[in-house]
Amino acid sequence: MSIEIPPGLTELLQGYTVEVLRHRPADLVGFAAEYFTRLRDAREREAAGGGRRVVSFDGEPMQTESNGEEPDRDDDDDDDDDFERKSPPGEVSPSFSLPVSVCAEAFDPDEEEEDTEQRVVHPKTDEQRCRLQEACKDILLFRNLDQEQLSQVLDAMFERKVKPQEHVIDQGDDGDNFYVIEWGLYDIVVAKDNQARCVGRYDNHGSFGELALLYNTPRAATIVATTEGALWGLDRVTFKRIILKNNAKKRKTYELFIESVPLLKSLEASERMKIVDVIGEKVYQDGERIIAQGDKADSFYIVESGEVKIMIKSKVTNQEVEIARCRRGQYFGELALVTNKPRAASAYAVGEVKCLVMDVQAFERLLGPCMNIMKRNITHYEEQLVAMFGSSMDLLDPGN
Ligand code: CMP
Ligand code: CMP
Repeated sequence: MSIEIPPGLTELLQGYTVEVLRHRPADLVGFAAEYFTRLRDAREREAAGGGRRVVSFDGEPMQTESNGEEPDRDDDDDDDDDFERKSPPGEVSPSFSLPVSVCAEAFDPDEEEEDTEQRVVHPKTDEQRCRLQEACKDILLFRNLDQEQLSQVLDAMFERKVKPQEHVIDQGDDGDNFYVIEWGLYDIVVAKDNQARCVGRYDNHGSFGELALLYNTPRAATIVATTEGALWGLDRVTFKRIILKNNAKKRKTYELFIESVPLLKSLEASERMKIVDVIGEKVYQDGERIIAQGDKADSFYIVESGEVKIMIKSKVTNQEVEIARCRRGQYFGELALVTNKPRAASAYAVGEVKCLVMDVQAFERLLGPCMNIMKRNITHYEEQLVAMFGSSMDLLDPGN
């Protein structure tokens, strides 16, 4: 009996195999689902006479493919850093071997319509991709993205090396890119009333440059590298298309919960929405340590579901003792950010826990109006510790 191999099957599987070898995904089935869905979409677009391939590459003109036609640069496609060139037939985009195209500028987050055709892709070596993935793994703005959105974001990111004293962003400028830090130190300088003040520093991780892109405002601060460093940039168009769209969903998901958080009650509704825009959700398994006593602090947490156990090490026995529990709507991890000291206690998940997490920069920028409430609660911590251990740990004294 002879078995007939359907025409196209070999090429189809070869294409998939090549992409697997290039990307080495952990989830082969998920990767296959994504690959073949994109392939089908691209073929449908091609059949409809639409699909065109446009690849942008660090300011250098790149190849595009568009049904054999010369790619036409739209008048409204006026971003200086987006380029197009023809690619040989069969050449693949670095994400998958499928047609992609540069984004149109405007994006209305309320529009439900899928705009999968709009793509910016910066080719990367495997080594670059590893470094990029490592740098992005804790970026809160990326946390609520699905696998496909994250993959498009990573494809679109480009590497930027910086030198000491280089201004990555200047206050007052228009927003061009969002940046994720791979390494290096960066000062945050805000000028007000003709006075420039360093209001904070990024120390080898974190991200910046989202505000101008989220709210279409001038840059709110100057970011200066104080050492050599490396950043990963994400262009404004991709940021708006993916992150803004995702934030519209996030607002719907978290609006009611954030309104119910007692700490945030005194904020205006618009201020609460700004919190939703920059938070990311993290999930912890039973027993997992969320915060370690003595660590340097860079995040603030609100419990969305489950229970968090706060444990402090007794100076006498050196054993951890439970001092508090935080439940839905309660917060923790503020103390070290307020006092600028190491974490005063450890926090552990009891059962599965979901937290909304905010970075220290957003905490300082957005939670100023809640500071009095937090400080009042911190004095209760002191009383509680006196009651438990017979002495205060001087939680509010930055000298300790
Ligand atoms: P953006 O306004 O686009 O550019 C400057 C960035 O600095 C800003 O986004 C934030 O990501 C970051 N930043 C960090 N701290 C502050 C702060 N206190 N005020 C304004 N911007 C800040
Ligand atoms: P932080 O020190 O940043 O990290 C540990 C957190 O545990 C701390 O912030 C508080 O949010 C929380 N906590 C709850 N009760 C206490 C307490 N009595 N003393 C210190 N920290 C406490």
